[in-house]
Amino acid sequence: NPVEAFDLVVFGITGDLAHRKILPALCHRFSIGQIPKETRIIGVARGEKSKEQFHAEMAEALDKHLPKGRCDDQCVKDFLDCFHYVKLDVLGEDGWQELKDLLNERPNPVRAFYLSVAPSLFAEISVRLGKSGIATEGSRIVLEKPFGHDLQSAKDLNARLKSCFDECQIYRIDHYLGKETVQNLMALRFANALFEPLWNSQHIDHVQITVAETLGIAGRGGYYDHAGAMRDMVQNHMMQVMCLIAMEPPARFDADSVRDEKLKVIKALDPLDIRNTVRGQYRAGNGGGSYREEAENPDSMTESAVALKAAISNWRWSGVPFYLRTGKRLRAHVSEIMIKFKEPPHNIFEQSRPAEGNALILRLQPGEGITLMMTIKEPGSGGMRFLRVPLDMSFAETLGGRTGVLGNAYERLIMDVIRGDQTLFMRGDEAEAAWAWVDPVIAAWQESGERPQPYDALGSGPEAALALMHRDGREWREIETEPDA
Ligand code: BG6
Repeated sequence: NPVEAFDLVVFGITGDLAHRKILPALCHRFSIGQIPKETRIIGVARGEKSKEQFHAEMAEALDKHLPKGRCDDQCVKDFLDCFHYVKLDVLGEDGWQELKDLLNERPNPVRAFYLSVAPSLFAEISVRLGKSGIATEGSRIVLEKPFGHDLQSAKDLNARLKSCFDECQIYRIDHYLGKETVQNLMALRFANALFEPLWNSQHIDHVQITVAETLGIAGRGGYYDHAGAMRDMVQNHMMQVMCLIAMEPPARFDADSVRDEKLKVIKALDPLDIRNTVRGQYRAGNGGGSYREEAENPDSMTESAVALKAAISNWRWSGVPFYLRTGKRLRAHVSEIMIKFKEPPHNIFEQSRPAEGNALILRLQPGEGITLMMTIKEPGSGGMRFLRVPLDMSFAETLGGRTGVLGNAYERLIMDVIRGDQTLFMRGDEAEAAWAWVDPVIAAWQESGERPQPYDALGSGPEAALALMHRDGREWREIETEPDA
């Protein structure tokens, strides 16, 4: 459904995130008629630019990053008519009054500020927006992770944000929550009657969450080498996915009901035992360079991969391990969840055992879909012999052309900001609770002085991650995907 015209101020409009994600997302929604042409997108950056120059830069970014065939030339042209530019120094005085005047000239009912800038500037910009009166009572502020670097900095950031904005005005983007399959987890669980009765320790043996990437950190070393995989992926994306798998059914599908339930999961997590964690760092291999070269830090101790076993101590999940693994520069690019069910309680087949328990696999990317691994009789076999086969549902095949209009996570999340729906955004207390869980492990790793375990670039990841499973008599699911560059 179309939204009312709005004013969106993008701080850092010349940056990579704005070019790669925000502009194409807005342009696509404009092209399908969801964004009215009276909308104003006000780009803010430090450089001096004429209107023509700015429009040319935006057009170039769209040409580069908008999937081909999404919007025709006329549509891009009309979309660019929504754009305005303000030269502004976020830490100085220049430009703030111009921004205020422009916004007040012809205000649209919804005003949102997207801080697509270095996280170190979040607090400062928010406070200035609040104090200058540029942010009005109903304004929204949008931030990208990382929300702080640890618990203390997250608390400081939240406190400063809240000195000028109510929690209901703050939109913390975790783009994993905007992914179609991640949202489908909620549909799968709460819009079907089939799975929920089985969704507990009585029937589930364990859960695996995998986010494997083929890309390294080239070009992002400055940020990544201070963050590492635990802060970059686990504290946010992976914990959020874990929460959606593990949370109790919220009474309603609204922002606070869902976020309350997710928070309860984080609070029920046992403190992580460092022995249940593995960290790795890629070395040169399979034609790929090493982490240390890419980070330009020959002594870096930062982890580019993490595997861990988490335990949620509550009635539903007691005794069900959640295994999480993520890594950069692995041989495949795949994100998926596997819910592994227990074996049947009694085997009636004397000569052979059913292959393995059922497994439900949710593929977040690539090739989004849901697979249920089942055991069937091997056709033609004398007696009872078993085969494990997939009941497979690929979104692309099942929904055909309809997947094309779904767009990506950013589109969905930006439109939610405009509609004022916070369900798919992290609340401040969730971010803090997640830091409280990961901080002690990061501190213990640092104290140990040990180097992350080396693993080959474009290989299978740290060996200790395999051992983490084997010692529990379990296996990681084989990553089934073609390697990509
Ligand atoms: C980002 C991380 O939040 O998520 C990146 O900072 C990571 O390091 C990316 O590559 C992964 O997102 P996706 O959608 O490609 O799985």
